Amino acid sequence: MERTFAIVKPDAVRRGLTGDILKRIEASGLKIVALRKIHLSRVDAEKFYDVHRARPFFSGLCDYMTSGPVVILVLQGEGAISKWRQLMGATDPKNADTGTIRKDFGIDVEKNVTHGSDAPETAAQEIAFFFPAREILA
Ligand code: RTP
Ligand code: MG
Repeated sequence: MERTFAIVKPDAVRRGLTGDILKRIEASGLKIVALRKIHLSRVDAEKFYDVHRARPFFSGLCDYMTSGPVVILVLQGEGAISKWRQLMGATDPKNADTGTIRKDFGIDVEKNVTHGSDAPETAAQEIAFFFPAREILA
């Protein structure tokens, strides 16, 4: 069983899409084993996206990710990391496959509705960054 970390990003929470997204997660067979609504601090957003620090979109990305509350989740299931990334679709909604979350709800390459970990190491790091073990209920 694999675990991955997911975020329903501020634009999606603001637009009332949280329920639709959770429904797609559960319908896919992935299990929600942790869930919390938070407002990211600037420091946390910068730490979370540290890998993108040198990119031109870093500052705008941190502005966006701190612009309102987000819903953070841990998802569990077989192949959870790739399964969740498949459900989300490509980073830029205009390149995302039909039926994916980003295709259906994404606004642009930045306001792309959801986050998903990209590898086992980052999944473990991201989960530990936000959730103490006692809040993960499998
Ligand atoms: P994520 O980390 O959020 O799951 O998305 P991802 O792996 O598909 O994409 P990544 O390359 O890790 O980029 C992280 C987030 O930065 C924003 N972004 N903006 N303006 C731009 O060109 C640009 N490129 C990326 C997106 O919000 C992306 O999800
Ligand atoms: Mg990424």
